[in-house]
This record gives sequence, structure tokens and C-alpha cells, in this order.
Amino acid sequence: MEERGLKIFVPEEEEPGKDSSVFYNKDMKNNRDISWAALKVFREKVEVPEFNIADALAASGIRGFRYSGQGNIHLNDTNPRAIESIEKGLEENDIEAEVSESDANVFLSENRNFFHLIDVDPFGPFTPYLDSTARAANYQSFVGLTATDNAVPAGSYKKTCMRRYGSTPMKNALMHETGLRIYIKEAFQNFARYDKCFDPKICWHERHYTRVMGRVTESKSRANRTLENIGYMSFCPQCRWRKLERVDKCGHCGAEVKVAGPLWTGKISDQRFTSEVLEEMPEDWESREIVELLDSEAEILTPFYDLHKMASSTGLMAPKREDVIENLREKGYPVSRTHFTPTGIRTDAPLEDVISAMKD
Ligand SMILES: C[S@@+](CC[C@H](N)C(=O)[O-])C[C@H]1O[C@@H](n2cnc3c(N)ncnc32)[C@H](O)[C@@H]1O
Repeated sequence: MEERGLKIFVPEEEEPGKDSSVFYNKDMKNNRDISWAALKVFREKVEVPEFNIADALAASGIRGFRYSGQGNIHLNDTNPRAIESIEKGLEENDIEAEVSESDANVFLSENRNFFHLIDVDPFGPFTPYLDSTARAANYQSFVGLTATDNAVPAGSYKKTCMRRYGSTPMKNALMHETGLRIYIKEAFQNFARYDKCFDPKICWHERHYTRVMGRVTESKSRANRTLENIGYMSFCPQCRWRKLERVDKCGHCGAEVKVAGPLWTGKISDQRFTSEVLEEMPEDWESREIVELLDSEAEILTPFYDLHKMASSTGLMAPKREDVIENLREKGYPVSRTHFTPTGIRTDAPLEDVISAMKD
């Protein structure tokens, strides 16, 4: 098979999964496109004599192949058939890389502070690899973490979420934003344990996966300051009021609220970074659409509103998203679409103004 002009040697399958002899999922192309562009942006900001890149769970090697030309590539996987695919791919694509067949935790832990980019793209959660990623991350590095256990921090398995992430999730229209914020919190706290600070730069949710990408710096004081961004999210099931803070009663109708967390209460992407990522991405890549949305919503903190859900709780007809956006913009509020759902908007306007914009 091919992806963006690179040859990949894997059996063609209907449903790639854990049992694939060598895993390759073409539906993760957007994830790889955005990760490639994010690396380009980060790469331009760092001046080091050698830039070391780790694809710690490489499967066919496609991620690492796509990062070629940006540094010294290290590809690792435990599966001997993956190693064969990687070696064939390197030869056919004329790429040089170091290849190893180790457990990702061993591979990363043996390379303390060595890597400037670490890509962790496992089956399920990234949590089993966080400690070794923090050890292996250089004091100026970039880290990309994929998780496919979305149902857990999105509230379908509360106990598992408590066990795996130490957080209470929330199962409602906001569940994927809650999940993404739990993932970022987990990454941040883990790096903080190693006196490293993780700053989310571009983080998103798409279909069955969530991707968290951010910059790592070795700074205790920065990590201490950033601790402010760990907190809670309150949500009123009656009127859909929400706040990135732990409260007892709804600030709009006074009803009892549901609280999720601890989670990340800061921005989920950095708009300066997402705009640079967009500049790197060719105009005809579909994956641009996700980054355009991330770019437009990056500066707005309040969790998004699903206009269809708002319509059913207020008894109003679901208005056109663009009309609500225009109305709130005219009133001077920051407002945008959101990558979480095509029926959503993100705005810092108070709930009463969102409702009045829907009525208007
Ligand atoms: C989801 S796939 C990686 C997909 C790949 N990054 C891509 O973009 O196509 C996960 C890979 O991790 C490998 N793997 C599973 N457990 C591992 C471990 N403990 N250490 C290293 N590799 C592991 C599997 O063999 C599989 O190839």
C-alpha cells in the first residue's frame, strides 16, 4: 500500500486490529498528516546538532517513514513481522533509520533525555508508556500520544477511568471534550513528576481516537505555574450551563451540577501553533479541516455547546449554527465552530446570551 507517496508492506485487510499480522489503519491518515505538520513546526523552533525521533510502537513504520528528512529516525516494535515490514519499507522508500525489536518501555527508558520527538501510538491507552516517554524526552522535545480507549474518559466505564486516569468522567454531549481534557491532564501530571513541563500545542478528537501533542521543557517553575490548569468541569443537566471550575450549584438555574475531573482546564490547542501547522499542510489535504477548526476554537476556553442538545433542553427549534455564530459575534463575543461536532459552537458568551442568540 501507499500513504502520501510512501510504500508500506502490510497485508490488505478489511478491519485492521490487534490481531493483524502487521497493523496499518488508513483511517489514521489524518492523525499522521497533522503529526507530520506539527513536527515540521516544532522542528523549525529547535536548534540541536542531532534531532532524534522515536516511533516507539511503529507497526509498519509509516509514521517514522513520514518523519524522514526531519532527523534521525528510530523505529521500534515488539512484533517480529512488523520489523520485517519496517525493514522492507525502509529499503523500498530509501530511508535510513535505526530499527529495534524491544518493548517500548525498555526502548524508551534506555534512551534517557535523548529524543526530541517521541510518537506513542499504541492499541488502547497511552498510559502504560507515559513514564518511559517522560524519561526519554529531551529537555526540549515534542511528544505525540494517541489513545483509542475513548469510551473510558468519555464516561462509559467510570471505574476504569478512576483506575486508569484517577478522574471522574462525564457521559453527556461534552464527553469527548471531557475525555480530551482528562488525557491532557494525565500527560501533564506524568511529565511534572519528572520535573518536565508538558504544554499542549495541538490536541483533538476524531472518530475512535484522541491525539494529544505538546511541547516538553525541563522546567520545575513552569510546571508549578501550569499546575493552575488542573481542575474540574461542572455541568448542569437541567439547563446545560457549564464552567471549568468545581461548583455545587448551577450558576444559571441553581440546580445541582455534575462534576468531572480532575482534568485540564487550560487551552486544548495553542492558536499560534495551529496556524503554523496549517501553513505546513498542503491545500488539498482533507486533514486540514480538523486543524482549521482547532485553529478557530483554540482561544475560547468554555466547553462547546451542542445546538441540537440545547434545542431539546430549551424547547427551541435547532437554529442554523452559522446564524447563532453571527448573532453572538455581532454581540461582541468570541465564538467559533468546534471540531468535536458539526452541530456545536464554542463561545465564552454566558448561557443566557447563547439561548437568546438561538431565539433570535
Ligand atoms: C496501533 S499499532 C501502531 C500503528 C502505527 N504507529 C501507525 O501509525 O500505523 C501498535 C503497535 O504496537 C506494537 N506493540 C504492542 N505492544 C508493544 C510494546 N509493549 N512495545 C513495543 N511495541 C508494541 C504492536 O506490535 C503494533 O505494531
